[in-house]
Amino acid sequence: MKPIQLHEPCTFGAEEALVSQVLKSGDWGGDSAMVHICEKWFEESYGVSKVLLTHSCTGALELAALLCGLEEGDEVIMPSFTHPSTANAFMRCGAKPVFADIRADTMNLDTKHVASLCTAQTRAIVPMHYAGVSCEMNRILEIAKAHDLQIIEDAAHACHSQYHGKALGTMGTLGCLSFHATKLISCGEGGAIFINEPHLIERAEILLEKGTNRAAFRRGECSYYEWKDIGSSFAPSAMSAAVLFAQLQGIQKRVDAHRQIWSYYLHHLEALAQEHGFSLPSVPLGCDHNGYIFYIILSSHEERDALSKYLDEQGIASAFHFMPLHESEVGKMLGSKQGDLPVTEGTYVKLLRLPCHAGLMEEDLERVVDAIQSFFQTVKTAHNVDAAIAHYEKA
Ligand SMILES: Cc1ncc(COP(=O)(O)O)c(C=O)c1O
Repeated sequence: MKPIQLHEPCTFGAEEALVSQVLKSGDWGGDSAMVHICEKWFEESYGVSKVLLTHSCTGALELAALLCGLEEGDEVIMPSFTHPSTANAFMRCGAKPVFADIRADTMNLDTKHVASLCTAQTRAIVPMHYAGVSCEMNRILEIAKAHDLQIIEDAAHACHSQYHGKALGTMGTLGCLSFHATKLISCGEGGAIFINEPHLIERAEILLEKGTNRAAFRRGECSYYEWKDIGSSFAPSAMSAAVLFAQLQGIQKRVDAHRQIWSYYLHHLEALAQEHGFSLPSVPLGCDHNGYIFYIILSSHEERDALSKYLDEQGIASAFHFMPLHESEVGKMLGSKQGDLPVTEGTYVKLLRLPCHAGLMEEDLERVVDAIQSFFQTVKTAHNVDAAIAHYEKA
């Protein structure tokens, strides 16, 4: 039987023609028409003051951290349940990540814990919108205002998601998006930074352009460009931007396809979840999400691993997600220890992502649901729960 993948990059059809057009134009660099067309698309679609495309969300986060003007000893509050890039960006600037716990229903920051972690050294909060569902941005904005903190939204999962009508990435000081091959829309490797505070735009352009004022020179605002700041090379190539632009044309279609898959799983797994005690993702009021990831939370680590192996035997890919940063080698070096973040620690080990991409047909989704059902009904029941888990643990 045909294997069912977790992710699959999907094209819309215009990608090749646009890449070919760029190749013929000779305008291949980061400061090129195709890159600026994509930036404009985001600015106009989401009402952002300024958008700069980057080669990755990692690059966007690094640029964001540089723009925050952090110093040695500054603290940045972020979830531990996130990608290492979230923390790397701020540590490169000498800041210390302070890990906050998450809510078990959304896997997003627990704002009560965030508020309790604010100290005189705190400079920023990094809400990561897991699976494209927004963090409680109203509360995070309040906390940031009360403590005079910057907010850097890690919206790697959240392109085209909204919170009370606002696009994710547009509510913080800065927002960072990913267009990596596994993301909802993709150009292989790619990202963007949303600059929501106009006073940061000039420096952002300089840092992105290897520390020079080349962007101002291109606009005819100065007669030559020179070294102005300690920047880097964060822009993507025009060929990547061409793929991205083709994908942006179909973004609503892509979100609709993901939301359909999401609703299918939710609807068809509801009764099973109640019967067998696993939970389905929840979407708080006011969050309009992009359906990027569908996950379930099993009742134990062992059950999660057993189900994952069972699905694998049926040719169905599934995956865990982030290993909490505070339990990693670097996290331990920072002084974190097990027990610090009980919800993170108790939940990530039970989380399993199911296949979710626009190439899935209804019969694929039926196969996934049937396989989960047969795991619970045939394999796991019959008074043989422990034996089934032991079987799959050994496999
Ligand atoms: C939450 C989060 N932040 C940042 C990144 C890094 O994104 P990129 O691969 O575009 O650098 C990822 C990657 O998956 C991510 O999941």
